[in-house]
Amino acid sequence: VSLLRRFGPRALSATDRASLTAEAVTLWRALELRRPATERIITDQFAPVFLGATGRALLGPLAAATPVRDRIARHDLGGLSTYVLCRHRFIDEQLLQALRAGAEQVLVLGAGYDARAYRFAAELDRRPVYEVDLPPASQRKAAIIAAHERVFADGSVHRVEIDFAREHLPGRLDSAGFVRARKTFVIWEGVAPYLDAATVDATLDAVRAVCGPGSTIALDLWDGTGGPGRLAPVRRLAAQALALVGEPVRFGVLPAAATMLLHEHGFEVSEQAGAPELTARYATAGRRSAESLYVLAARR
Ligand SMILES: C[S@@+](CC[C@H](N)C(=O)[O-])C[C@H]1O[C@@H](n2cnc3c(N)ncnc32)[C@H](O)[C@@H]1O
Repeated sequence: VSLLRRFGPRALSATDRASLTAEAVTLWRALELRRPATERIITDQFAPVFLGATGRALLGPLAAATPVRDRIARHDLGGLSTYVLCRHRFIDEQLLQALRAGAEQVLVLGAGYDARAYRFAAELDRRPVYEVDLPPASQRKAAIIAAHERVFADGSVHRVEIDFAREHLPGRLDSAGFVRARKTFVIWEGVAPYLDAATVDATLDAVRAVCGPGSTIALDLWDGTGGPGRLAPVRRLAAQALALVGEPVRFGVLPAAATMLLHEHGFEVSEQAGAPELTARYATAGRRSAESLYVLAARR
């Protein structure tokens, strides 16, 4: 592991490149669009627009290889892409539920190419969406959106640049016009596993400080062990291999301990779903969601 970290590129926050994992999950969302609508776990019509040259070049061949990809996705070790789609769907549903229950604003932490501000523009009905990310990711997204004005016509987005590990979230949000103490829906998708424990704690405290009662946070976590069975060490190694793209997985917590973690930061878990639940609820074409990764929703 230390070798991977030593020879992998510099940490994301120390460079001027946008996240590769953000682009990888967007590629999976773009690929899902190539399936018949009835077979999709999610529909994100904006995903292809965010792909860079490599992503665009891979899209065709990977779409043509869907039967092969599905065979891999049925294997115990092949569930990551399905998990990424299932967690997106879970958070979509939580968002829609929160909007119906009166959420007044949306905060997306580590937004990457999350397109919910546009996908759900009608449901959001001009409620503000604050998208927070490292400067290179935030700027790349802003440039793509500016270059496709017609595609992204709807949406009420405020962009906030931050490094969670170094900067104070509440202050940055205040400057962006975020209104504290409002009922807020917070999305923290695919981010916490890349942070250290102190930054996870500080971010949860910051979210608690700025959000009003009745707010919800939806997030996903890695269990830190690699899940059940004899393949756990392989899954742990796969998680560590992300160091090769400069985005090593640092933070893991078992599902039972996650309930405690959120409680300690003022949130009560209302829903939690791991591989069996995500597979049963959302997966199609015989695909399985990855073990050791799970989603949560918690109320403040
Ligand atoms: C796997 S991507 C997920 C993107 C998006 N939430 C999604 O699910 O499509 C991780 C995101 O977290 C952001 N991120 C990682 N470390 C960060 C940090 N220290 N501060 C702010 N954002 C960070 C990355 O720039 C990237 O956009």
